[in-house]
Amino acid sequence: MAEQNLYPPSREFASRAHIQSLDEHRRLCDKARQQPEEFWQELAERELHWFERWTKVFEWNPPFAQWFTGGKLNASYNCLDRHLSGPRKDKPAIVWEGEPGEERIISYAELHRMVCRFANVLKGRGLKAGDRAVIYMPMVPEAAAAMLACARLGVTHSVVFGGFSAEALKARIEDMGAKTVITADGGWRRGKIVELKAAVDEALTELEVRDVIVLRRTGHPVPMQAGRDYWWHELEQSVDDGCPAEPLDSEHPLFVLYTSGTTGKPKGIVHATAGYLLQTTLTMKWVFDLRDEDVFWCTADIGWVTGHSYVVYGPLSAGATVVMYEGAPDFPQFDRWWSIVERRRVSIFYTSPTAIRALLKQGDRWPEAHDLSSLRLLGSVGEPINPAAWEWYYRVIGKGRCPIVDTWWQTETGAILISAMPGAVPLKPGSATLPLPGVEAEVVDLNGNPVPRGEKGFLVIRRPWPSMLRTILNDPRRYEEQYWSRVRDSYFTGDAARQDEDGYFWILGRVDDVINVSGHRLSTMEVESALVRHPAVAEAAVVGKPDEITGQAVCAFVTLKAGRADHDGLAAELRQWVAHEIGSFAKPAEIRFTEALPKTRSGKIMRRLLREIVTSHAVTGDVTTLEDLSVVNRLAAQHDEE
Ligand code: WT7
Repeated sequence: MAEQNLYPPSREFASRAHIQSLDEHRRLCDKARQQPEEFWQELAERELHWFERWTKVFEWNPPFAQWFTGGKLNASYNCLDRHLSGPRKDKPAIVWEGEPGEERIISYAELHRMVCRFANVLKGRGLKAGDRAVIYMPMVPEAAAAMLACARLGVTHSVVFGGFSAEALKARIEDMGAKTVITADGGWRRGKIVELKAAVDEALTELEVRDVIVLRRTGHPVPMQAGRDYWWHELEQSVDDGCPAEPLDSEHPLFVLYTSGTTGKPKGIVHATAGYLLQTTLTMKWVFDLRDEDVFWCTADIGWVTGHSYVVYGPLSAGATVVMYEGAPDFPQFDRWWSIVERRRVSIFYTSPTAIRALLKQGDRWPEAHDLSSLRLLGSVGEPINPAAWEWYYRVIGKGRCPIVDTWWQTETGAILISAMPGAVPLKPGSATLPLPGVEAEVVDLNGNPVPRGEKGFLVIRRPWPSMLRTILNDPRRYEEQYWSRVRDSYFTGDAARQDEDGYFWILGRVDDVINVSGHRLSTMEVESALVRHPAVAEAAVVGKPDEITGQAVCAFVTLKAGRADHDGLAAELRQWVAHEIGSFAKPAEIRFTEALPKTRSGKIMRRLLREIVTSHAVTGDVTTLEDLSVVNRLAAQHDEE
């Protein structure tokens, strides 16, 4: 191995870790490869509580997989009830801090009661296994409780991130066919109220649902529509504390989570109960090396998959104490997170490179004002972590004592698939290191042939894994096309990668029209469709532009219908428009008005050229199919003038 940039686990860390050596890591990988059924079966027995045992470990009718078929279990039971018979009963499950400063410490027994009561509320409104609910909430304990209450009854939930606009929320409620929406009057972000209920009302102007259940969080007045809107606390007054967990099939759909694809329409990724819960639980040990005394903090919002898997299901199933924080990292000051780490004695901290870069930029004095000695392990997710951010995270936050697990995965994979096991695998800054046991990752060409070590190719997974998505809701064809048709018999991740001489994986970014802004996935087509819905816009092309903090930023090239002169005013209007159509996180950082867009003779916009313009300021490569070369020259020249 190339020694210079290698960080082997310290003896102290390794000696207490779940997986302590590369040999042990290799043995697990070998076993998973050679005897996959035995391997997963033993883990399913050890890690989860079952009402009924499965009859088959694994069935594969490409491209559809099933795991632990015939088995019956309940995710909510696994996250709560099974911890109540031992010392975890009174252990904090959720340690919550509101942005204005309130705190709540909720034990496993208390969370169990909250979840049972809310499950009874849902039951009282007629919900049962097989129904669907949309959750649109701030980061408060009730959001996790709502998810677990749905899971308890077998109601498939779809959590919509609170930063999504009414338009985006509406599309998701519609695609889900949900009859119930669970929301709050609002949530706090940077000292302001996020108007969640108002967005729900706007989303429901042309859409009927049976019930909207509203949590009182901020207390500011919101209109309630009689016969449709109900206060959570009022419905809860008349329910019992007990609600048995429904025994559900292993393959019962636990949740649907929408993510951006290459078209304008988001995909509803469907996850099944058993496989998902097994791998999220397991990775708490394999990747986060969880011990009972740990305080685990994943900073993601529950509206993203990271929040599903590592704020709610994984850590609670593993019996962890989870920190949950409602607001912004820089409110009221840049040390809010470090202050939480200090006060809550956080030992495992998991966040995104964008957040690390943003906090790094504010200087060392913010973390240095706090005692961060409780930390023992750090994690990174969502995008490649650049060396400068890695170094800072390692030295200034981890004080050179804490391994950093760089975890590669996706909404579709359900759980982490490529990451170091921190007691076993030496780290290389910027590399997600090695696939976890049972994950047959490879870097291949489009024919499915492995590319030589060191060369760039497509990252694929050769074999189904338990927490793999099951399908795209209402669109099994798209599921097959997107994931199983590009490279024969392999799951196509949409990422480029290379493997180095030690077999370490280096993720190089998306190969499709998906861009990664602050670790959030955005489809360029989705932003383009939003822009062309604006009356002044004729055409739009969106590309990712490198950004020091957010990794990539949205850059939109726009042609106008009738020449509007006030470009500055219009740019601001269009940015606001995108915020309204999708959410403010999708706002273009830059809008460039142009006379025409570069197109091939068949009329396709040549995004590659636009990407080159925003990244290197120059156009190289093949432009022979360009319809009008002068367009490109003009765009490139315009850039140089700025
Ligand atoms: C895409 C998935 C599930 C994590 C949150 C994002 C990129 C994710 C890494 C990493 C480099 C990463 C990939 C992937 N990505 N983790 N450690 N290193 N890139 O979930 O929105 O489904 O996006 O995020 O490009 O395909 P997502």
